[in-house]
Amino acid sequence: MSATDSIAVSARRGAPEETTADTRVVGLFEGDTLGGAAAALVASGEAKPALKKLALTHEDGRRLLIVGLGKREELDAERTRVAAAAAAARIKELGCSSLSWAAPDGEGIAGAIVEGTLLALYEFTQFKSDADEAGGSAVRELEIVADRDLDNEVAAARAAAVAQNGARDLQNLPANVATPDFLAARAKEIAAEHAAVEVEILGPDEIRALGMGAFAAVAQGSYVEPRLIVLRYEGGGSGGHLGFVGKAVTFDTGGISIKPSAKMQEMKFDMSGGAAVIESIGAIAGLGIEAKITAVVPSTENMPSGRSVKPGDIVTAMNGTTIEVNNTDAEGRLILADALCYAVDQGCERIVDLATLTGAIIVALGSTYAGLFSNDDEWYATVENACTSTGELGWRLPLHPEYFELTKGQYADLTNASDARKAMSSYAAEFLRQFVGETPWVHMDIAGTAWGLGRNYVGSGASGFGVRTLMELARTAG
Ligand code: BES
Ligand code: MN
Ligand code: ZN
Repeated sequence: MSATDSIAVSARRGAPEETTADTRVVGLFEGDTLGGAAAALVASGEAKPALKKLALTHEDGRRLLIVGLGKREELDAERTRVAAAAAAARIKELGCSSLSWAAPDGEGIAGAIVEGTLLALYEFTQFKSDADEAGGSAVRELEIVADRDLDNEVAAARAAAVAQNGARDLQNLPANVATPDFLAARAKEIAAEHAAVEVEILGPDEIRALGMGAFAAVAQGSYVEPRLIVLRYEGGGSGGHLGFVGKAVTFDTGGISIKPSAKMQEMKFDMSGGAAVIESIGAIAGLGIEAKITAVVPSTENMPSGRSVKPGDIVTAMNGTTIEVNNTDAEGRLILADALCYAVDQGCERIVDLATLTGAIIVALGSTYAGLFSNDDEWYATVENACTSTGELGWRLPLHPEYFELTKGQYADLTNASDARKAMSSYAAEFLRQFVGETPWVHMDIAGTAWGLGRNYVGSGASGFGVRTLMELARTAG
């Protein structure tokens, strides 16, 4: 999978200078004095303490990269990820093969260095014929040096970054490769690697047999078969049964309500929620986090064809709710309706779903926050905290009876899209809410954050957004 999973990461106590790495990284805080070769660079003003500023020198036959870390009291995990990513970009350019990073004090700082570095070194080059054009980082080893025991923190951060990069691989793969069955195969691979993970894959007949008429309707237009991907992790814990649900439309043309062609290629990313859910389970199991989780990933293409669902068609979801499909491009809520019913049926006691659901969330929140919606304040607070601690930020937006009214159908119980172009992200959330019953649930609309996030450590492409938040949820709620 991603190139970064072959990078060895370790923690070491002792003097930062006593390393075998070819490149050492040290942070520079405002008001700090550094010794050795760095002192001259600080004195001359070439090395600056402002966040992300870089200066390069040599000492003891190795490179010494000085990274500005800003004010000591302002350094947190997120700023550290940003600084580590800036260093990693230079390190890639220089062709370094082993790094030794002297970690400043602070909770989660060492892990953030690992995450920022591995996320920034990620690249997707498997379809580039020319190795030079593909670029490619030469980094094979990353050592974190500090006077405290960091083995667990560093291992967990590595697992998180590798899983996030794995999700980015799944996102980046084109839709002719990353089909529903391909995602199912990845889920099977994860289950094969971990004794505590079981996988179940359902095909079109089983989807229909379960009464998932909404999911089946979206899938019927494509020649590529849908899959309902279910991963069950039995890792113990006392937090009850968690449900992770992820939208995985491997290509969203809009169906008969077809999308304009500009940027339609980006709709290969419409499986980002599912990718995050699948890869998070691998990392959670790998770390043995104590939790019981059922992951449900409905995966299909959304295509126009002679057998596609048509505007006005009425379908019946797993819980018996009838839905008028008035816009075939509002397909995410249809497949999630059945996936949420399934998660409730499986006994999930608290559910979070991740979905690239609405263009409107990009208008509202840009790429800064995912839109969060919830029917339960306590579960909401837990999810928001997980988002904050990982830097995968979420902002709560409202549900409301007036939005609920908008979801009512003319001929059926619900319509999947109303003519009123009002509060479209809240509308979608109100639609989904009707399939979770009373189960505490948080919906994360990640249409603005799944790619083009623009954080220094994930850049402009696929972001793997949500993987680390789901891992944190397993830890704090599982
Ligand atoms: N996958 C899209 C949402 C999307 C759009 C994600 C742009 C990322 C970038 C979703 O299936 C969709 O098409 N939503 C429609 C719903 C509308 C037809 C009610 C939208 O938001 O425009
Ligand atoms: Mn759509
Ligand atoms: Zn979609």
